[in-house]
Amino acid sequence: MNILSPSLLSIDFNNIGRDAAILDKAGVSWYHLDVMDGAFVPNISFGPPVIKSIRKITKAFFDVHLMINEPKRYIDAFKDAGADLLTVHCEACGDVNETINLIKKAGLKVGLAVNPETDAEVLEPYIDKVDMILIMSVHPGFGGQKFMPVAIEKLKWVKKKAADKNKELLIEVDGGINFENVSSVLDAGANVIVAGSACFNGDIADNVRRFNDLLS
Ligand code: DX5
Ligand code: ZN
Repeated sequence: MNILSPSLLSIDFNNIGRDAAILDKAGVSWYHLDVMDGAFVPNISFGPPVIKSIRKITKAFFDVHLMINEPKRYIDAFKDAGADLLTVHCEACGDVNETINLIKKAGLKVGLAVNPETDAEVLEPYIDKVDMILIMSVHPGFGGQKFMPVAIEKLKWVKKKAADKNKELLIEVDGGINFENVSSVLDAGANVIVAGSACFNGDIADNVRRFNDLLS
């Protein structure tokens, strides 16, 4: 089953209560929450206090994408805020194994992300250890960018590795996904689709329905 994970980076935070209710009513079960520190990426978004307040208005699964350096420092803070899954960047961790183990020890699901310029091969030692791999299809930092086709080969590679290892794996793709290109990333192996601007520009409920039709 494929999952839609709308990125709240593109939501109008003035209307978060109203728009979260629209998402939930449209059947959205995952929220993608983009945390940016202004150091690992050239933008600053939000952190645990904001996630904690969104936690009060929805029962959705919180897919928290940490674009921050040394994310192990904040595992407990995001757990307390209500995160269900923490995805960290292999480029930002220092010790990737240690970070994965700490997230698991905290009782959370764990994802590992790679930037567009990082080879998928660096993921090999971790595929068995994580719940999800995240292939970035834009340079992280901003919503509304253009999809980078380099993600397609990486998705195929991850799907094959997971199959070879007999590993049930969530494979997420993030950045520039729209109604026109979503089928190509699904065909390449993605089963969790992040969409920010394509979900929140225009009629949200209608956009979610359109995505879910394409995902089923
Ligand atoms: C980018 C973020 C994405 C972004 C996606 O750094 O990780 O989740 O919000 O937005 P769109 O779908 O507009 O590219
Ligand atoms: Zn993201």
